[in-house]
Amino acid sequence: MLKEIIIEKIKKHGPIPFDEFMEMALYYPDVGYYTRADIKIGKEGDFFTASHLGSVFGFLLSKDVENIYQKLNCPQDFTVTELGPGMGYLAKDILDEVSIPLKYNLVEINPSLRDLQQQNLKQHFDKTHWVNSIDDLDPFTGVFICNEVFDALPVRVFEIDESKEVMEVYVDFKDDEFIETLLPCRKDTLQYIKEFAPGVLKIKGYRSEVNLKMKSLIDALSKKLQKGYLLIFDYGYNSQEYYHPDRKGTLLCYHKHTINENPYINIGRQDITAHVNFTALKKWAEEAGFNCEGYFSQSKYLISLCNEAVLKEIYQKNLIQLFKRVVLPQGMGESHKVIILSKNLDSHFR
Ligand SMILES: C[S@@+](CC[C@H](N)C(=O)[O-])C[C@H]1O[C@@H](n2cnc3c(N)ncnc32)[C@H](O)[C@@H]1O
Repeated sequence: MLKEIIIEKIKKHGPIPFDEFMEMALYYPDVGYYTRADIKIGKEGDFFTASHLGSVFGFLLSKDVENIYQKLNCPQDFTVTELGPGMGYLAKDILDEVSIPLKYNLVEINPSLRDLQQQNLKQHFDKTHWVNSIDDLDPFTGVFICNEVFDALPVRVFEIDESKEVMEVYVDFKDDEFIETLLPCRKDTLQYIKEFAPGVLKIKGYRSEVNLKMKSLIDALSKKLQKGYLLIFDYGYNSQEYYHPDRKGTLLCYHKHTINENPYINIGRQDITAHVNFTALKKWAEEAGFNCEGYFSQSKYLISLCNEAVLKEIYQKNLIQLFKRVVLPQGMGESHKVIILSKNLDSHFR
């Protein structure tokens, strides 16, 4: 069904840029990977995130939420807003732990996921509130949380061709299959590459991704956060690591807990992701009015939240094995990063 819709579009308009293909595969109304009614995240789905590894991630984040509440002088209308909250596990784990008054907004585009979240958050019905999009949020003071949201934004793909021209990957359909074709790069794609990946411009065959949607997303988040913090968790690198001559792209697909590099199979049935360029994210966040207070590995960030009392609780709650999975390098500790962005604060505390 979705495959036919994409083929139809290509037949009508010609080859489409890769980001448009990815947008349709993930977000086409009702049949995209993230918009389907039968979407499952976790064991029965295609991938796990930190919030699926038991309650330890949310338990530790609840400590930071409480720190931020104190830092903001305990505002009356303190609000936590989570974007793309998946099954709602992170929200539940935070709300189970915090002992401060707060409102928790969940921004969810998929009605089926929203139903699952509402079931999982039943006992917190008095604090939780759902909206379909960021536009529907009232401006607030508090914390925005995005866990593995930015890697799910549609990316453009570029390739340096034989004559060292920077080209963009477009998707065509010929002889009954999707094929890629290289067309001249759009201006803003080229501008981005010159700024964040100048070292690869002359490497024939070099291929990687450009995520310009991050910029509009960070602008939208900034408009809604009056004062407080934006915490973005994701797998990614700084520009130098991302566009290292040996890397050649980070695009991956997840299907039933296996990884493949072919976005043209399982269309609408597999996740397609690309790592986050935190250098670009930081720059665009600062342009949008945020102050960058830190960029850490997930490990360093989570361990920084562990004072003696917190460690004791981890032991008492029997969370030590799960704690290892979120902080050790062989788990998510080093692959996953966090960027901590603040807005309109008088002083900084990290
Ligand atoms: C990889 S899933 C992560 C789910 C969850 N945060 C977790 O950790 O399990 C990415 C989610 O981000 C959502 N998303 C992407 N862009 C969004 C946007 N602009 N507004 C709301 N949700 C968005 C997707 O719909 C998807 O549900």
